Amino acid sequence: VGHGAMTGSVAAQPVAPGDAVIGELVVRIWRGGEDGRFETYRVPHRASQTVLDVVTYVQRAIDPTLSYRFACRVGVCGSCAMTVNGEPRWTCRTHVSRYSADGRLEIAPLRNLPVIKDLAAEMVPFFDKWAAAKGRFTPSASAKEPLAQVKPESAGRQAVDAGIECIGCAVCYAACDTVAWQPDYLGPAALNRAWTLVNDVRDGDRRGHLAAVAGDAGCHACHSHQSCTNYCPVGLNPTRSIAGLKRALFKAALRGEL
Ligand code: FES
Repeated sequence: VGHGAMTGSVAAQPVAPGDAVIGELVVRIWRGGEDGRFETYRVPHRASQTVLDVVTYVQRAIDPTLSYRFACRVGVCGSCAMTVNGEPRWTCRTHVSRYSADGRLEIAPLRNLPVIKDLAAEMVPFFDKWAAAKGRFTPSASAKEPLAQVKPESAGRQAVDAGIECIGCAVCYAACDTVAWQPDYLGPAALNRAWTLVNDVRDGDRRGHLAAVAGDAGCHACHSHQSCTNYCPVGLNPTRSIAGLKRALFKAALRGEL
């Protein structure tokens, strides 16, 4: 996946000094593959516990065969996303006390992706769509030429800045009903990536990027429900990026560029 992520790691369960047990959580966790089922575990509830802490506790203290994925634990790598009480979340930054008022949690793999095992979703279809959306930078200059200078206040730079911090967690992809209805839809993250490249003045294939998102599975399939924007853990707005692609395609078609 490119995160250096691990599945079912034995990294230490962080318990801060004084982070006392304040109750008990009843946790339903998806076990097995697509045809799996929920199993219930009882986990000590601590004051600043995250959902990832809960999953780690179950693996370390109850069932070491539980599989899940994480790496950084600080909201950077994007590998720990799961479905928590029916909603896609980055679990290392999701505090139990905020999402479970009644001490109950249900944790499942991300929606819209195949299940490998337990809480580990198969990410290949997600990143294949980044490739299909031509989400790879195409340099317009050789390494021998001087570094391009892009003014921070330029419209293109600002459009790139607004979308560039994607951590590839697939929360938006799991939240997207259009992906659920139309499995070949490229999805919010891949289209957001395409928008950053369309606006990158250093990229040498703007037309290629636009052509890659112009088909039936591209930006026009978006219904602007904004679930991606509502759930993006780092506050990006893929809906706005997709709307930008629609406008750019319209202008390119009027100019006869596509
Ligand atoms: Fe890296 Fe959660 S473990 S973002």
